[in-house]
Amino acid sequence: MEKFKIVGPNKLHGEIKIEGAKNAALPILCASLLSSEDIRITNVPNLRDIRTMCSLLKKIGVEIGDDLKNGICELNSSKVSSIEAPYELVKTMRASILVLGPLLSRYGEAKVSLPGGCAIGQRPVDQHLKALEQMGAEVSLVDGYIHAKAKKLFGKRIVNDLVTVTGTENIMMAATLAEGTTIIENAAREPEIVDLAVFLRSMGAKITGDGTDTIKINGVENLKGVTHEIIFDRIEAATFMCAVAACGGEIILNKIDINLMGKTYDKLLECGGSFSKLKNGILIKFDKKPNPVSFDTQPFPGFATDMQAQLMAVNCVADGVSVVKEKIFENRFMHVQEMRRLGAKIEVNGNTAVITGRSKLNGAKVMATDLRASAGLVITSLVAEGESIIDRIYHLDRGYAEMDSKLTLLGANVLRIQ
Ligand code: EPZ
Repeated sequence: MEKFKIVGPNKLHGEIKIEGAKNAALPILCASLLSSEDIRITNVPNLRDIRTMCSLLKKIGVEIGDDLKNGICELNSSKVSSIEAPYELVKTMRASILVLGPLLSRYGEAKVSLPGGCAIGQRPVDQHLKALEQMGAEVSLVDGYIHAKAKKLFGKRIVNDLVTVTGTENIMMAATLAEGTTIIENAAREPEIVDLAVFLRSMGAKITGDGTDTIKINGVENLKGVTHEIIFDRIEAATFMCAVAACGGEIILNKIDINLMGKTYDKLLECGGSFSKLKNGILIKFDKKPNPVSFDTQPFPGFATDMQAQLMAVNCVADGVSVVKEKIFENRFMHVQEMRRLGAKIEVNGNTAVITGRSKLNGAKVMATDLRASAGLVITSLVAEGESIIDRIYHLDRGYAEMDSKLTLLGANVLRIQ
């Protein structure tokens, strides 16, 4: 199993390009099932989850030319031969649930293994299933599989009981070919939802309101082939902002748009440091200890739950006390006990963590438990004094392309070892 060996502390200096957004690319790859014509997607991040999604789509019969090292994915779904997303693939990536809406809408049937829970929580999909049933699907759970059937889906007014990102995406994709108008209320507002809507509109879908909490979709007969460039990954960008806030130094992040980062960016400004906008990027400089920053995680445009571990890592070496409340997932503090091994002072009570910044952390052996927890551990290890070993780094590779090479480029001492 691969590990990271990190020796700190090192200030970061240099310039990197931010990849395309994993959480935009995943639904957009699935949306290609909605057309029988050629689809070309660029700026696709070369990540483990993307490769898993491509394998799943190939299994369903989608022809895929993935030149992922150049960020290109070309797909054609005219010869889809199966409507099943098997357990073996779904268990490694919950986002496989995103084939449910497109398969059901285009082929009238879908069999998707019920995604299990994961380290951060139960992760139920009741909102996805409730909406599709309202639109006319017959949904049953047999032997751990979601089996959905619908000769035709009908547009309906769907009111989600809670804000769900992939739930909103599944309903939006299913509604593009449904008969009539679908209104999704209490919809998720993430920039990745907007990027999916931009992609679907370019295919001929009739969608308005994406980016707000009410999305309207008028069903059409069919959708055509298009080319689309994935938006930048706001979570990767914010992760590198946290790295330089913790370690100090001066870095440039290219190909990002801070206007799409919501309150996550505003909160990172509170760390102190100087953030200067460039033509198509940003220059960030930290030459003193970061300020402690308290925050609650919220649906977009609130502070992103996917950034909770990373900003907690900054708080571990901040000049004071901070309070972090995880309001989206019920078990997203798995990184806390690992950060404590590096000397962090963190008290947890339910969904609230109180962090007392330390003047320094010390290198240790730690273990990654999930994607964003591992990013938080990388940041604490970068600023810790001495050698840290982070085990199970495959969690990190799911959502960050070549994090080790990028950090090395910025002057950190990071080595990927077996
Ligand atoms: C998406 O997951 C992201 N994944 C997650 O990123 C992200 O953490 C999450 O949104 C929240 O922003 C992708 O986009 C592929 P939700 P998703 O449905 O859609 C509950 C990463 O690190 N819920 O918005 O699965 C759920 O349990 C990943 O890239 C229900 O109860 O999250 C959670 O508490 C991790 N019933 C809350 O809602 C449902 O039917 C938000 O979940 C659906 C969700």
